[in-house]
Amino acid sequence: MKKFLENAEITRLLPDEDEGGMSKETHLVKKDGKKYVLRICKDIETANLYELISKKLEKYGFLPKLLNRRGKRLLYEYIPGRDLRKSDALKLAYKIGKIEGQISETKLPGQKPIEFDERFYQELEHLVKKKIISKQRDVPIKEKYKALRKKINLKNCLEVVDPSPDNFRLYNGRVYLVDIHAIKQDLKGRGLAKTFLKWIKTKKQRENFESGYNSVSSMKFLTRDYLEFVYLYHLVKNIALKYHGRRDFSKQIKQLNKLLKGELK
Ligand SMILES: Nc1ncnc2c1ncn2[C@@H]1O[C@H](COP(=O)(O)OP(=O)(O)O)[C@@H](O)[C@H]1O
Ligand SMILES: [Mg+2]
Repeated sequence: MKKFLENAEITRLLPDEDEGGMSKETHLVKKDGKKYVLRICKDIETANLYELISKKLEKYGFLPKLLNRRGKRLLYEYIPGRDLRKSDALKLAYKIGKIEGQISETKLPGQKPIEFDERFYQELEHLVKKKIISKQRDVPIKEKYKALRKKINLKNCLEVVDPSPDNFRLYNGRVYLVDIHAIKQDLKGRGLAKTFLKWIKTKKQRENFESGYNSVSSMKFLTRDYLEFVYLYHLVKNIALKYHGRRDFSKQIKQLNKLLKGELK
C-alpha cells in the first residue's frame, strides 16, 4: 500500500453537490490513469470496524470493494457515475429501502448494547442548558419520550445512520452506498427516520421504499408509535450534532415542533 501510494496523485474527495463530506477522511487517488478511493480513518479501531463491515456486506454488492488495507488506511474501488439527488427519490426508493433492510439484518460480533435513555437525556439536557431547546418544550419532549418508550420494544441493529443522497451513488442503473462512515450500530429505525425526514417523503416514495425494505427484512416493527419515537430520538440527537458542528439546525427544530403537535408524518 505504501509503495502503491508513493507516485499517486491524492486529493480530497467531496460530494458532487456541496453538502456533507464532513468526515474529511475520503480521498481520491489517481494512479496509472485509474481512480481509487482512500479513506484515512481516525484510528485503528475504526479501520478494523470498517474492514469488518465491508467483509460482512460484501455479498450484497452495494458497497465499493475494499481493495487493500494498511493500518488506518483503507483503499476502495472508485464508483463512476454520480451521487444520488433528492429528485431520485421516487425512482430509486425501492433500491434504497432494500439496502437499508439488508444492513439492518447484518449482525456484527462484539457490539455492546446502547444506553438509549442516557444518550437522549444527556443531549436534551445540554440543548436546554444552551437554550437551543426552550424550557417550555423540555417537558413535553420528556413526556412524549416516556409515553412512547413504554409502548414500544426498542431494538438495536446495524443502521444506515446517514442515508443522505450524497452517500449513495448511481452507476449503470445500480445504487451503491459509498460512505462506510454512514453505517453504525444504533437504534433500529434511526436511519428510516432520517431517510423519511430528509428525502423519501411522499406516500408513493415511501411505498416504494417499504417494498424494497420488506423484500429483505420486515418493517412490521415500525408502528406509528415506533416511528414517532425514532423521529424524536433522531431529531434531538441530530440537533445536538449540528449544534456542536456549528451547522444550521432550524429545519430540525421545525420538525421537532411539528412532532410535538402530532403533525410530523
Ligand atoms: N468509492 C467511491 N467512489 C466514488 N465516489 C466516492 C466513493 N466514496 C466516496 N465518494 C464521493 O466522495 C464523497 C465524500 O465521501 P464520503 O465517503 O461520503 O465522505 P464523508 O464521510 O466525508 O461524508 C461522496 O459524497 C461521493 O461523492
Ligand atoms: Mg458522506
